[in-house]
Amino acid sequence: MVGKIKGTGSYRPVQVWDNDKLSHMMETSDEWIRGRTGIGQRHIASQGETVAYMAARAAGEALRDAEVRPEEIDLILVSTMSSERIMPCAACEVQKLIGATGATCFDLNSACTGFLLALNTAQAYLGQHIYKRALVIGAEVLSNLTNWQDRSTCVLFGDGAGAVVLEAEEDAVYIQATHSIGKGGDALTCTSRNQPEFVEKGTNLSATYMQMDGKEVFKFAVSKVPEVIFEVLEKAGKTKEEIRFYMLHQANQRIVSSVAKHMKEPLEKYPMNIERLGNTSSASIPLLLDEWKKRGKLNPGDWIVLSGFGGGLTYGASLMRW
Ligand code: UT7
Repeated sequence: MVGKIKGTGSYRPVQVWDNDKLSHMMETSDEWIRGRTGIGQRHIASQGETVAYMAARAAGEALRDAEVRPEEIDLILVSTMSSERIMPCAACEVQKLIGATGATCFDLNSACTGFLLALNTAQAYLGQHIYKRALVIGAEVLSNLTNWQDRSTCVLFGDGAGAVVLEAEEDAVYIQATHSIGKGGDALTCTSRNQPEFVEKGTNLSATYMQMDGKEVFKFAVSKVPEVIFEVLEKAGKTKEEIRFYMLHQANQRIVSSVAKHMKEPLEKYPMNIERLGNTSSASIPLLLDEWKKRGKLNPGDWIVLSGFGGGLTYGASLMRW
């Protein structure tokens, strides 16, 4: 027994910054950003649009979509690396905001692969018959971790949240493959602001913002994502042609195109919304799922592959029947 996605939801901050706005803030251009990444705009959280607030809004929508009451939820998992509060965890704040009084709540951080790993974690609980219904949420306010003086990273990221309701079902199918490469971790870093050496001595403040070796991360993504997708297809005994959609973490349009090319699959099978949302880290996959569901593009019985990759380094793919 595993879980099936019964409902999806999302929240996008009200404020939208397009590339032209950024080009007035720093030495950059719409042409450079679109050409290198496919990003045209991103949503930026305002005061009050916290990780927990956005996660709760996305969760509320997912519950309504699934026709599940908050009290029926047994587990709330929030994947985030940008929560404003370390304690209580965002999942407990979500519980309070939506009234899911019976749920066990915790957060999980594995950067951009976090949502996929949270989904796997929830599936493990459901598979062991420990819980029946879970809310799995990816929520990020990356604009708080972004160094707005560093044009090589700040143009990439956006804020938002996506959620799914997972319910244990006899005939549900979910197969996963995941990997981590800790020795490659320095390619994408962000140090806690609570570290005294940064706060008191004021040294290397830039380390408290996201730092990235873009080229290394790009190379890692385009080589490992196809590899892990083929791994999960093999585990499931499925061919690439049987898959309706490959829903990849939205880090860069060129990464998605390169994966499609590498897999010799048509680009139409790789949904993208990075043009409108930028890279929202662990929120990107549930945001994409919710958008495709609302657009009526997902039909019962469709085989879907999700794939996440990013800081850690971490990566993985999961195959499910919609
Ligand atoms: O979700 C987490 C995972 N993250 C990723 O997957 C990101 C993976 N990496 C990438 O997507 C790409 O490496 C980037 C989009 C970040 C960068 O693309 P690139 O083709 O690797 O560019 P680059 O860093 O080599 O920079 C090329 C040039 C440099 O100028 P010079 O040295 O050639 O004169 C940069 O200074 O572009 C310059 N540049 C910019 N110019 C205008 C860097 N950022 C900007 C900018 N606007 N925002």
